[in-house]
Amino acid sequence: MAAVIATHDLKKNYRRIEALRGVSLVVETGEIYGLLGQNGAGKTTLIKILLGITRGWRGQAELLGHTAGTVAMRRRVGYLPEDHHFPDYHTAFSLLDFYGQLLDLSRAQRRQRIPLELERVGLVPRMHTKIRGYSKGMKQRLGIAQALLHDPDVIFLDEPTDGVDPVGRREIRNILLDLKGQGCTLFLNSHLLSEVELICDRVGILQKGRMIREGDIKSLTQQKGRFLIGLAQGQQMPLADLQSRGYQIAPLGERWEVQLEEQQNIDPVVDLLRAQGLSIRHLVEKRQSLEDMFVETVQEGNKGRT
Ligand SMILES: Nc1ncnc2c1ncn2[C@@H]1O[C@H](COP(=O)(O)OP(=O)(O)OP(=O)(O)O)[C@@H](O)[C@H]1O
Ligand SMILES: [Mg+2]
Repeated sequence: MAAVIATHDLKKNYRRIEALRGVSLVVETGEIYGLLGQNGAGKTTLIKILLGITRGWRGQAELLGHTAGTVAMRRRVGYLPEDHHFPDYHTAFSLLDFYGQLLDLSRAQRRQRIPLELERVGLVPRMHTKIRGYSKGMKQRLGIAQALLHDPDVIFLDEPTDGVDPVGRREIRNILLDLKGQGCTLFLNSHLLSEVELICDRVGILQKGRMIREGDIKSLTQQKGRFLIGLAQGQQMPLADLQSRGYQIAPLGERWEVQLEEQQNIDPVVDLLRAQGLSIRHLVEKRQSLEDMFVETVQEGNKGRT
């Protein structure tokens, strides 16, 4: 797979503020990548560098195989900025018509694409009324339609569901998954981790301008060596047997939690239960939520720095 986004040792200072202190990341074609981090971590700065909005950076930053910031590249990229303020005397239709002209779309292309994109975000019924009267969620949907107008290959979304209600968030999530299905690459910044967990293939955590953790959701949320076991109703867990073999096991609701030591494996536990004629109804490796993982990682990062 080809890298769509690649940075290496990317640094950016705003006078004395070190917004990025050497960030390296790679996003492959067709991936949904989520960049997480506390306020001020450098997420927006990274997007703005890739799009050529922020200059004066050091290191390497490439988008679609070219150095970030070239005008030709921007035609292939969609962008939903955080805290966007569209001129509110426009209607959704006239705003997209204006953006379409900036993107050099012909009149015929604009006529064809604008209703399609507004349909996608559910704004057709209000497309000829002024933005002034839109709710926050409607403005956000319009921002997404704007980012998709020219059928880009890569889409940057800075807080795409900011201010959107739960139903709308689900709709936006489905839109993003559809885009992924069509082969788009998506890069998003978000604080809504429960959502990121459902959408992203991979995430990176920025802390004070450094990438402190990166990986796919599954491996980041895995709790190594912790298993939950459930037996058929009425069956007793042979606790004493397991403990005498050196397994740490404790009840958790109607199930049992096994914490393996470094050299232990879950298979002998299963063998022992089966040998005793017990029926295993449930066996999973425990996971933590992305939010738990995030908070833990950020707190560890803070400790490491003090
Ligand atoms: N134009 C600017 N001038 C001066 N400092 C800036 C500018 N833009 C960003 N910064 C600083 O750079 C750091 C990173 O900011 P950035 O906006 O990239 O963070 P973020 O991770 O997007 O935060 P948030 O989650 O709040 O959107 C912050 O300390 C911020 O104050
Ligand atoms: Mg930001």
